[in-house]
Formats: sequence, structure tokens, C-alpha cells
Amino acid sequence: MKAIVLAGGKGTRLRPITNTIAKQLLPVANKPILFYVLDQIRETGISEICMIISPETGANIKESVGDGSRWGVQITYVLQPEPLGLAHAVSTAREFLADSPFLMFLGDNLIQGGVRDFVREFNANRPDALILLKEVPDPRLFGVAELNDRGEVLHLVEKPQEPKTNLALVGIYLFTPDIHRAIAQIKPSKRGELEITDAIQKLLDAGKRVRSHILGGWWLDTGKKDDMLEANRVVLDTMLRRDIQGRVDSRSQVVGRVHIGEGSRVEGSTIRGPVSIAEGCEIRNSHIGPFTSVGAGTVIEDSSVEHSVILEQGRIQGIERLEDSLIGKGVELRKADSRFKTVKLFVGCDSRLEL
Ligand code: TTP
Repeated sequence: MKAIVLAGGKGTRLRPITNTIAKQLLPVANKPILFYVLDQIRETGISEICMIISPETGANIKESVGDGSRWGVQITYVLQPEPLGLAHAVSTAREFLADSPFLMFLGDNLIQGGVRDFVREFNANRPDALILLKEVPDPRLFGVAELNDRGEVLHLVEKPQEPKTNLALVGIYLFTPDIHRAIAQIKPSKRGELEITDAIQKLLDAGKRVRSHILGGWWLDTGKKDDMLEANRVVLDTMLRRDIQGRVDSRSQVVGRVHIGEGSRVEGSTIRGPVSIAEGCEIRNSHIGPFTSVGAGTVIEDSSVEHSVILEQGRIQGIERLEDSLIGKGVELRKADSRFKTVKLFVGCDSRLEL
């Protein structure tokens, strides 16, 4: 069994952050989402992985992930010249996949508990495809599945205007080589992409066995700013352990599950977990509230931050309430005058704001 990870695409919905960082490398609890994906693939025992990359961010991904030895796996990079859809990405990996069954994982998706059990089930029962579904509040944004009374997949539609169910297709799939024949039969959708949903529908049309699982646990799809914050919240909430490596002075209070990385200093501040503070940060006279991740080398002074993700090398000074914010690398936020207001921000790399 092999795996392909889709780490190409444009990431337009996360601009301007994705102008300088690949979407799949954005940190969740201070670790790139793609690293969790590789952790989950490694757990299945699959060791041959193909990483689909784009011309814009491929070098960024290669530099961070390397040859896979960190995970004990072998990574082959394949360039997808243009983001022509998920099914197109599969076809660019055709040579790597040869006639092997495979796990396909979107590099910006993650599910609770990993994929080991699904890979095991697929190998034991060997359907033609195994898809994962999750109930969502607004299925119009996803591929949507219709099932019969016995839970068998009847029909799949990509981003329907009037969805018949609330079951969205999760970005993790298991396929036999039959999918390549199905992909060869599909045409680009209205948005100009070769949709994997349409290819799976072709499998159904040909009478192939498409099995499904409805996920009970969380599913993270980090396509937009609020998805990133939600992913950060969920991962901090479910995976973080207390681990204080930096220095905390006697005037500070660190409550609950808090990670403070090496070389970080906390002075005269309150940190209320779950919070992850990376290496080399300075937190002074501040409050860092629940569900916040602070990237390496960031300085926070005379400020209060909650439910936010701050990337590396930030500088936040005198901001009374920073909430629900995704702050790019090297951003400086500084209070300009004495009026205090809550600020909600979504700003790109190296921005400078005076508030
Ligand atoms: P999407 O989130 O659907 O697309 P995108 O990354 O281009 O983002 P946006 O819509 O904001 O512009 O992609 C899901 C995942 O699949 C993501 O990790 C990127 C990857 N992908 C490819 O590798 N090749 C492709 O052709 C497409 C469409 C996506």
C-alpha cells in the first residue's frame, strides 16, 4: 500500500499568509498541519509516500519535510504544474502509484484518532474505494454523499446548491487502481477542476463497491482563517500536555495545560491553558488566554491575547484585547494612542499595524 499527500493548490482563501508560506505548513499548536498528516500516515505502516507540490510553494514544502527520514518513511515529490483539481493531482502521481492500492490524504486535513483503522479495514475487506464522511452544518461547501438505509453510498455531488444530506466528504480516501480508469472518464467541473467526487461517482456508476464511514470525532479542514483557529483550538484542547521548558518568574501564573518552549521567558504574566508558546519568546506583563499558540521568537508585552494563532517573530505591544486572530510571520502590532478597543485581525506576513 502507498500514500499520496496533496500539498499543492493555491491557498487563496488564506491570503496573504499563504503568499509566503504553503498552506499545509501553517502551524496548528506550533506544528505544521502537514506534520500531523505524516504522523498519521506513519501510524498505518505505509512507508512509500508521494507528496504533490505546486511550483509556488513546492520548495517551501521540500525544505521543511525533506526525504521523510524524520518519520521513517520515503517521500517522493511530484510537481503538479497547475492546481487543476484533486483528481488531476492523483493523475500526476500515476507513475509513482503504478498498480498499488493507496491512501490519499489532503495535506491540510486531519481527523481525530488517525487513519490506521480505516487502512486496516480497507485491506481486510478490499472494497474498490473507502470514503470518510462527516456531518457538517453547511454541506454546500463540500462534496456531499447520499446513502441508502443500509448506509451504502448511492450518489455523490460536489458542492451542491441543494444538498440532500449533511454528509460531507472528508479529504481522506482509500482507493484501488480502479480510480485511475474513473479519472480518465471525467471532465472538468464548472469551476474548471477535475473533481475526485466525480471520479468516485464514476466508480458507483460502474457498479464498483464504494464503502463509507461516518466520522464521530473531529475533522479539521484548514482552508480558511476561522478553520485555522478552530484547528488550533481542537488540537490544543485534545493533544496538548503541560510542559514548561522556559523560565517563568515568581510574579507570573501558569494555569493548566501550557507548553512553554526552551529559551522562552514569562515575566509578570498570566498564561491560562491550553496555550502553546514556542521557543525563544518573551511574554511580559501580559495575559495569554485559552486556545492561543505563539510562534518562536515572538515578544508580547502589556497585552492580552486569546483564541489566536501568532506565527514566528511577532511583536505585540500594548494591545488590550486581541482575539480570534491569525497573525503572520514578523508582524508588529503596537498601540498608537490611549483608546482601548477589542481588535479582530487577519493580516499577512511582515505587516505593521498601529492600533
Ligand atoms: P483546496 O483547499 O480545495 O484548494 P486550495 O489549496 O487551492 O485552496 P483555495 O481554495 O483557498 O485556493 O485543496 C485541498 C488540498 O489539496 C490542499 O492541501 C491543496 C491540495 N490541492 C492540490 O494539491 N492540487 C490541486 O489541484 C488542488 C485543487 C488542491
